Amino acid sequence: MSVRRLDPNQPESFEFTPENLEWAKGQMAKYPERKQGSAIISLLWRAQRQHGWLPEPAIRYVADMLDMDYIRALEVATFYTMFNLSPVGDHFVQLCGTTPCWLNGADDLKQVCRKHIGEEGEVSEDGKLSWLEVECLGACVNAPMVQINDDFYEDLDAETLERILSDLRAGKDVKPGPQNGRRSSEPAGGPTTLKDSVSAGKAGGE
Ligand code: FES
Repeated sequence: MSVRRLDPNQPESFEFTPENLEWAKGQMAKYPERKQGSAIISLLWRAQRQHGWLPEPAIRYVADMLDMDYIRALEVATFYTMFNLSPVGDHFVQLCGTTPCWLNGADDLKQVCRKHIGEEGEVSEDGKLSWLEVECLGACVNAPMVQINDDFYEDLDAETLERILSDLRAGKDVKPGPQNGRRSSEPAGGPTTLKDSVSAGKAGGE
C-alpha cells in the first residue's frame, strides 16, 4: 500500500449538516457506553460523503464526537483506502489493478485514464474526473473492471472505458455493469450447460 498523507490544502473547519449529525448520533447509539469509538468508520464515511473527500478538520471533528484521541482517528483514516484524503473528481474512478484484472487488460485501462484524466490521484482540470488504482474489488469474474462513484463497470476494454469517461464528462447517462453484452457473470457467449428445460428442472430440485 502506498503512503497516504493528508492533503496540504485543508478547509478551515468541518461540521456535519443537521441531518448528518442526527444520523451520526443514531450510529453512536448502537454501541454500549464508552464504546462509541466503534462508530468511527461509519462517521468518517458520512463525513466524506458530505464533503466529497475527507479533510483533516473532519477527522478531528469525528474524533471529538467519539471522544477519541486525534491520532487514533487519523490512524483509521489513513489506513483504509476507502477514505480519500485529497479532493477527487465528481466521477471518481477506482481502477482494479490486481492480478485477474491486470491479466485481462487493466494496464490498457490505466492508459485511458492517463489520457482522459491525468496522472493517478490528479483531478482533471474541469473537476469532473479523477482516478486511482486499487486492489481487488471482488468482481474478478468480470475483469477488468473499475468502480466509478458507487457503481461497477465490468468486462471493459480501452474503447468502452473511453466511451464511459467521455459520456460522464458530457453529463450523459451511462449504464453500469458488464460492457461487453454479457449478462451479470454468465459465461461469455451465453450459458453452455443446463440449457434444456429437463436438466434445468433437475438442477432446480424438481
Ligand atoms: S482482481 Fe479486479 S476485481 Fe478482483
